[in-house]
Amino acid sequence: MAKVLIVYGTTEGQTAKIAEHLADAGRRLGHTVDVRHAPDVAADTDPARYDGVLVGASVHEGRYQRAVREFIERHSQALAARPSGFFSVSLAAASRDPAEREAIERIAANFEEGAGWAPQRTASFAGALKYTQYSWLKRALMKYISGKEGGDTDTSRDFEYTDWDAVTRFAEDFFGGLSAA
Ligand SMILES: Cc1cc2nc3c(=O)[nH]c(=O)nc-3n(C[C@H](O)[C@H](O)[C@H](O)COP(=O)(O)O)c2cc1C
Repeated sequence: MAKVLIVYGTTEGQTAKIAEHLADAGRRLGHTVDVRHAPDVAADTDPARYDGVLVGASVHEGRYQRAVREFIERHSQALAARPSGFFSVSLAAASRDPAEREAIERIAANFEEGAGWAPQRTASFAGALKYTQYSWLKRALMKYISGKEGGDTDTSRDFEYTDWDAVTRFAEDFFGGLSAA
């Protein structure tokens, strides 16, 4: 069975939750999975010691977390030498507007290209609106953006749009590919 590393960037926690869901799915398939938050990746966490690597990040103002990009750049050789996958988390992934979804695909493709990485598998997952955790400024901004899109604007609660079945399918595809290799 394979040993897999999952490294993620998160600002409000949803990508961490998705990373743990991917890890659980991999473990259920019999694999060993380590999950690390990108800013905390220790010097002794070497992707070259793993059979596969998944990297995830969330979009804020059109960008992914810098620590994720730094991890990819630092370990570009190890990533190129083994199966790898990228999962992107955003609100636009849940948009009814195809142009919004395409914009996120472009942001993801530019990110991979800019970091000099060509993952075998990529996925775009819808994230969450965590109104109750935001500062008043962030809450007002996200309410405005969501309202403009015809989305949820009740700031007294949080909204989760992640399709957990899609996350499981991505995990099964990635881990299944490792088993076959
Ligand atoms: C300040 C802020 C800016 C955001 N900017 C974008 C954006 O540009 N595009 C988008 O699709 N989603 C955007 N989002 C939505 C996040 O990607 C979404 O909430 C995601 O679940 C965050 O994941 P995290 O909790 O792992 O950080 C933004 C969210 C916040 C709070």
